[in-house]
Amino acid sequence: MAILPIIEAPDARLRTISKPVETLTDDHRTLIADMFETMYDAPGIGLAAVQVGVAERILVIDLQRPKEPVTEDSDPETIEYVREPRVFINPEIIWASDELSVYSEGCLSVPEQFADVDRPARVRARWMDEAGVVQEAEMDGLLATCLQHEMDHLNGVLFIDHLSKLKRDMVLKKLEKARRAKAA
Ligand code: NI
Repeated sequence: MAILPIIEAPDARLRTISKPVETLTDDHRTLIADMFETMYDAPGIGLAAVQVGVAERILVIDLQRPKEPVTEDSDPETIEYVREPRVFINPEIIWASDELSVYSEGCLSVPEQFADVDRPARVRARWMDEAGVVQEAEMDGLLATCLQHEMDHLNGVLFIDHLSKLKRDMVLKKLEKARRAKAA
């Protein structure tokens, strides 16, 4: 397994429309394992293949919820997380609720920047799993938000594209500033 470099905005490769996976190969399985390792290392809760330079419709998600409720007294070093890795290949949204929910989203390709994004609160999705089996499920909460965010990546869309131009430019400016500060 390997930790892969994550492509960051405004890199044009993030605008690529990813291609459907026709036949699942061992190369895909290696890529998926590497994507999990890269996501856990970052750390993040979702990653699309295009973010590591592979424009195929593959994404991984693990919400990594804390095992115990986190309080103000919790020591961040000792919080344990439940691992629940999920793989979505060629995912499609087949139904979305009219009801929206708002979440302060971030993205490993837009590091350390966060902004509120509205998306359907519940979705029904269909996808292929790592064994090549078609799955279908309804989801809500953070999982629904995260799946929609990652699926956007497959179409070359970033969460900042859901913001007004003013807000988007602000986020990109802050990103550039943080990058320059890090390089200095
Ligand atoms: Ni993202």
